[in-house]
Amino acid sequence: MKTRVKLLAGNWKMYKTHADALAFAAELAATTLPRDDAAVEAVICAPATALFGLADAFAPLHVGVGAQHMHEAQEGAFTGEVSASMLLALGCRYVILGHSERRAHFAESDANVAKKTVVALDRGLIPIVCVGETLEQREGGQTATVIRSQVGAVLAALREREAQSDQNPPATGALPLASLVVAYEPVWAIGTGRSSSAQDAQEVILLIRELIRAALGAEIAQQARILYGGSVKPDNIATYLKQPDIDGALVGGASLKPESFVELWRQSAL
Ligand code: 13P
Repeated sequence: MKTRVKLLAGNWKMYKTHADALAFAAELAATTLPRDDAAVEAVICAPATALFGLADAFAPLHVGVGAQHMHEAQEGAFTGEVSASMLLALGCRYVILGHSERRAHFAESDANVAKKTVVALDRGLIPIVCVGETLEQREGGQTATVIRSQVGAVLAALREREAQSDQNPPATGALPLASLVVAYEPVWAIGTGRSSSAQDAQEVILLIRELIRAALGAEIAQQARILYGGSVKPDNIATYLKQPDIDGALVGGASLKPESFVELWRQSAL
């Protein structure tokens, strides 16, 4: 029996202006929504330029807001970057870290992602840490190895955070380790229409849960949420959510249209 609250997270990527985002919120407001917070939490991770005012527009609809990326420093000479405190000031609750598009196009490394995960939790943002293998890696039988190294880097940094918590007590607003969200997104399934089978996704996600258990203990492994992402649509989301270890979905293309997002939400709340 799953006790974790399901998480439906839309990743809008580099789509939608600020006005488009507010129009999306207005369309949702005119729709009957599931809004059963105990069953499923709905979140939209919008481009940074669309975040202003979005949390306020979404709050009455029970849709949370997240960012797609952040820099680990509090502030500084990092042209073009955005910090955790800037995102928090706009009402963000989540931040996607280490999306495969950022790893591929912006050279985000496992070490970067690990550092940002710790910073996000310390500052009070829930990290959605993305991991996943390429097609070449899958076909070469490397999936488990890739997942172990991507997840392992994050878990090692979180263990260190725990170990140092005596000398460095968490600041007010810091989140516990159990807030961690991991999204398994096989790269070959992203935006291709070629989704992973629910069984294959469950198998990798179970491995991720086992890695969390080994590093951070059974209680945190039981509470941390692990999502599947990659060509999730209203007509296949339910098959993933039926799996014992899959706690939700990170959805790109199918989160862009209000009616499709609402249908994903309905399917998640069943
Ligand atoms: P699609 O749902 O468009 O395949 O994108 C998945 C994704 O990258 C979500 O982060």
